[in-house]
Amino acid sequence: MCAAVTGDLQAIIEDIHRTLKPRLGEGKVADYIPELAKVDPEKFGIAVIDLEGNVFKAGDCDEAFSIQSVSKVFTLTLALGKHGETTWNRVGREPSGSAFNSIVQLEHENGKPRNPFINAGAIVVSDLVMAGHTPREAIGEIVRFVQYLADDATIGIDPAVARSEAATGHRNEALAHFMKSFGKLTHPVDHVLGVYFHQCALAMNCVQLARAGLFLAGNGRNPLTGHTVVSSQRARRINALMLTCGHYDGSGDFAYHVGLPGKSGVGGGILAVAPGRASVAVWSPGLNRNGNSLIGSLALEMLAAKTGWSVF
Ligand code: DON
Repeated sequence: MCAAVTGDLQAIIEDIHRTLKPRLGEGKVADYIPELAKVDPEKFGIAVIDLEGNVFKAGDCDEAFSIQSVSKVFTLTLALGKHGETTWNRVGREPSGSAFNSIVQLEHENGKPRNPFINAGAIVVSDLVMAGHTPREAIGEIVRFVQYLADDATIGIDPAVARSEAATGHRNEALAHFMKSFGKLTHPVDHVLGVYFHQCALAMNCVQLARAGLFLAGNGRNPLTGHTVVSSQRARRINALMLTCGHYDGSGDFAYHVGLPGKSGVGGGILAVAPGRASVAVWSPGLNRNGNSLIGSLALEMLAAKTGWSVF
């Protein structure tokens, strides 16, 4: 089925884009980070890159947006590279069933976050990525890593988004200080949050994002660059975490409707992985009640239905 589908993929993408376009504006653009509230809610882009490097795209797929929590996949990959399985001494691997910025479980669970994709877990991962380095060095390392994954040295951080989030990041400050009180962060809170806010402010377009995720579809190897980023076992495990935790308290629903490992961000982006087949990035800023792109999720549901790419 896959080979036949590939020939038609551009038509499928265009059909999905055309079908969903009238619904743009549904959902709510994130406004708790003021800079994100300025984004046009009618933006909509899709990019699919298969393991042969064919690119299928539609809509605003070449316009950069704030990848926000999608960055958590890349920092987790970096942290695992530095710390291996000991990463899991610091952060769990279970779905939280709570909102992405929830604090409730931390009190009963000794300050150890449930998984690396909720905010608390990603803040711990930023601490792990720092590993004794200054915030500036750690941020530089994250940017270079994402550039390497996407094979694109033009990718960077939107400083206005990073500043905007830092100025209003009281919830993340609360999470970080709470974890620090349990001894769960090794670096100063303001340093760790500086790294975290900057990684969330990475600006990428759908094509760049799909390219950066290709190693997860390719068993750990980016087939375009030939670089082995992680082992096949690690790629499978990152995908497993994306499937179970990548959409927070909407992860079960995303698995039910789409059936692919995916990671969302409040900028409206979603990276989805079809193992052995393709990497997919969608962007539509209107969010559902769980903080995941509403139209983006529907686009991926349609794509999975039309291609048969569900992992189930
Ligand atoms: O920390 C925050 O709240 C944001 N920088 C990222 C949250 C996010 O993207 C949640 N995803 N859907």
